Amino acid sequence: MRVVSGIQPTGNLHLGNYLGAIRNWVRMQDEMDADSECLFFLADLHAISMSHEPAELRRATLEMAAALVACGIDPDRSILFNQAQVPQHAELQWLLNGTARMGWLNRMTQWKDKAGKNREGASVALFTYPVLQAADVLVHQATHVPVGDDQKQHLELARDIAQKFNNDFCTEDAPLFTLPEPITPPDAARIMSLRDGSKKMSKSDPSDMSRINLSDDPDEVMKKVKKAKTDPESLPSERDGLEGRAEALNLVTIYAALTDRSVDDVLAEHGGQGFGAFKPALGEVLIETLRPISARFNQLLEDREALDAILARGAARARDRAAPTLAATYEALGLVRG
Ligand code: TYM
Repeated sequence: MRVVSGIQPTGNLHLGNYLGAIRNWVRMQDEMDADSECLFFLADLHAISMSHEPAELRRATLEMAAALVACGIDPDRSILFNQAQVPQHAELQWLLNGTARMGWLNRMTQWKDKAGKNREGASVALFTYPVLQAADVLVHQATHVPVGDDQKQHLELARDIAQKFNNDFCTEDAPLFTLPEPITPPDAARIMSLRDGSKKMSKSDPSDMSRINLSDDPDEVMKKVKKAKTDPESLPSERDGLEGRAEALNLVTIYAALTDRSVDDVLAEHGGQGFGAFKPALGEVLIETLRPISARFNQLLEDREALDAILARGAARARDRAAPTLAATYEALGLVRG
């Protein structure tokens, strides 16, 4: 088993990233056997697809590395790196550009959402972003990719690219690329904004009240939970009763994910309660989950050199893993390299 996944180092790590993806990364790392490996990376090359501030990107990359370690990614057991130090990712992207189709990329919902009406003004990188994402997982022969729901479409594209490349350039008994499986958590694959239950929790939302950041202090967390949008009804005792109540469902989903229980279980206990009672209970659970993470995060940030060293060591290991697949891709395409 080879587990590969990434996160963009833009803004803070938030609860959606944590419950939708990072917590699964840590679980998969902790369950690894001797023949398996986990590679987790900061998608800094993806981050330049939108306008950005170079100094800010540099800072955010180190901060995101600290956040991942604080959440439980162990750089001794997992390979933790940033894309910019592993050039095989960008190199394979170019090679895969010959296989990816314009029509496939045109259908990507993230491209449509992020480019909006201004397609002519969007960067080329925003359009070809999913090809780099495919290269990220294919260059390491990923078998499993833990992600939230919003990244599933990109993973399907990675599989389409791998399949077409294998068909076009390999023999049937010796395909070059492994088809990666997305792994999403059963309940928390899509954590929604605290201000609008129809939008996912996201670092690009201009309102900080819409998300819980893993670096928020206890007072901020409690304030955000208490101000979260809800409805006047009390909680039902069964899941069906949350139909059409997106904000209420989101808060119950978060509570269930944090306490490792099902939504039904939480409703069996809290059904009948109003939000005046449920929100403080949720706030407490959140504060207790975040307390050790933010303590460790602040501690790690004090030693930038140690963070640099973690990323440099992870990158060296990632380059070793990626090199044979990249060489085989050049070869399969008939490119002469001496
Ligand atoms: P990114 O940086 O937007 O998010 C990182 C991970 O967090 C998940 N996530 C969520 N899950 C549940 N609810 C939410 N509200 C929520 N918001 C984010 C995402 O699904 C993701 O798993 N393109 C990717 C980064 C990437 C990548 C890759 C991922 C680049 N290459 C290769 C996997 C494999 C992205 O921008 O994720």
